[in-house]
Amino acid sequence: MADQPWNTFVEGDNLDVLPTLAAAYGLVDLVYIDPPYNTGNEFSYRDDIRGEGGGSRHEAWVAMMRPRLEGARELLAERGAIFVSIDDNEAAYLRLLMDDVFGEANFLAQVVVNLNPKGRQLGKGFATSHEYLLVYAKDARRTVLDGSSAHAVVESDFPLVDAEGRRYRHLPLRNTNKKFNPVTARTLHYPLYGDPESGLVLSRPFLGSHEISPVFGDGSPAVWRWSVPKVDEQGSDLVCRRIRGKHGERVDIFQKDWLHRDTPGGRRKKLRTIWLAEEVGSTDTAVAELKQIVGHVFESPKPTGLIRRILETMPDDVLVLDFFAGSGTTGHAVALVNAEDGGTRRCISVNSAEPTREGSNARNAGLVSVADITRARLRAVADRYGGGLDELTVTDLRGTAGV
Ligand SMILES: C[S@@+](CC[C@H](N)C(=O)[O-])C[C@H]1O[C@@H](n2cnc3c(N)ncnc32)[C@H](O)[C@@H]1O
Repeated sequence: MADQPWNTFVEGDNLDVLPTLAAAYGLVDLVYIDPPYNTGNEFSYRDDIRGEGGGSRHEAWVAMMRPRLEGARELLAERGAIFVSIDDNEAAYLRLLMDDVFGEANFLAQVVVNLNPKGRQLGKGFATSHEYLLVYAKDARRTVLDGSSAHAVVESDFPLVDAEGRRYRHLPLRNTNKKFNPVTARTLHYPLYGDPESGLVLSRPFLGSHEISPVFGDGSPAVWRWSVPKVDEQGSDLVCRRIRGKHGERVDIFQKDWLHRDTPGGRRKKLRTIWLAEEVGSTDTAVAELKQIVGHVFESPKPTGLIRRILETMPDDVLVLDFFAGSGTTGHAVALVNAEDGGTRRCISVNSAEPTREGSNARNAGLVSVADITRARLRAVADRYGGGLDELTVTDLRGTAGV
């Protein structure tokens, strides 16, 4: 939908905004939220007016989150997924709550995000240097989320270069997973023929060839990863080499694994469940990014690199929703990635008009509420990267939704 702006901002309490969104925008593909972490000094989110709250501090937090997560689930398309940032204060409670709302079977990952590489120096105890991302699918069997990224592929993992300058690496053709052996995969245990001088590999003997059967490091029988027809078809991607093993020198067969495969979208690498600050940025780099575009007006923004990595797991035309938008990092990341790869992602950001602190940088800059901060950043983003910005209030949306 090229005619729709990349960014939309809605000012209002997310509990009021969520039920209005489907009528105006349809279902969303990706939800990212970074709710208040319940650190003990931010107890402003009790929905007292709705008769909730009371009980332990965890109960009050869960009571605040449950209807919002249920609202998010209703808004998610079948192919969709949700990522929630959280730290140790509520991680255990959030995991159980998400299991309840989204179903244990739809749990995809609990990622450790190393946002504070130096570690927290304040207070007693450990220098905590990470928080978490809980990832759930609306339906794990139907989600389009792909837990891999093209950016996680590093050139240095492909140290060899062919005559045309194409990078590759050698992978053993032998299946190194012990689950696959001549008993479990009978047809993949067969001899191949190779010449370590020329590198040539064929499925039949030739002049000067050695017969090579797949074996594990301890000499026990293994299987190949490729069938005979695949060897016949793609034999030019195989190479016979002399290697030095534990039991002396032997000849073995390797696959040339190319960095740039001719697959749509290029080569991707599975994402590990620990995301380092050097890969996704840190809270310090996030503050610097925000400072550069609007000023030092928000204490705990997320780095755009974190949201970029999340976006990379989904198609490039997704509708994204962040209903605890804060300084607007998610909308910023969506515009950055669209500008880079020509994608048509759209992002709806929601934040309440929570007042900024008297005397804070934000207040001194004339930003009276957090919603003013979100708007200021998303306006600056639209100026810099294009894509436009729609600014609405919950009242505008109620008109559309009839709620
Ligand atoms: C931890 S911050 C999010 C920071 C954001 N990820 C960023 O990178 O800037 C949580 C935000 O949720 C907002 N918020 C809290 N309760 C809300 C509610 N009920 N409705 C809408 N926004 C809310 C707060 O104003 C705060 O800005």
